Amino acid sequence: MERTLSIIKPDAVKKNLIGDITKKFADEGFRIVAMKMIHMSKREAQGFYYVHTKRPFFDSLTDFMSSGPCVVMALEREDAIAKNREIMGATNPAEAAEGTFRKMYADNIEQNAVHGSDAPETAKFEIGYFFSGLEQF
Ligand code: CMP
Repeated sequence: MERTLSIIKPDAVKKNLIGDITKKFADEGFRIVAMKMIHMSKREAQGFYYVHTKRPFFDSLTDFMSSGPCVVMALEREDAIAKNREIMGATNPAEAAEGTFRKMYADNIEQNAVHGSDAPETAKFEIGYFFSGLEQF
């Protein structure tokens, strides 16, 4: 079993997609280990995306991620990281496969509906950023 961090981003929350997205995770065999709705401050968004600090889109990305509430979840299943990335689709919705979250729901490469951890070390950092041990079931 493996865990990954998923975020339903502010654009998808505004479009009322929380139910559709969590239903898909259930259908794909993910167990929700932890879940909450939060509205990140700019500083909290900067901390989450610290690996992108030097990227030209960092300021705009962290403005977007702190623009409204999002839903953060720790998810568990076999190959959770790869499976989540498969159902999310490519970062850029223009390149995302049919039926993926980003193809169906994303507006552009930045406001792309969902986030998912990209590696086991990243998942560990990202889950720990939002959830204490006591909040994971
Ligand atoms: P995410 O999977 O959350 O990881 C980093 C985020 O940065 C990504 O989704 C997008 O929201 C954003 N991003 C990545 N590349 C670009 C880009 N070229 N322009 C704007 N935003 C980007």
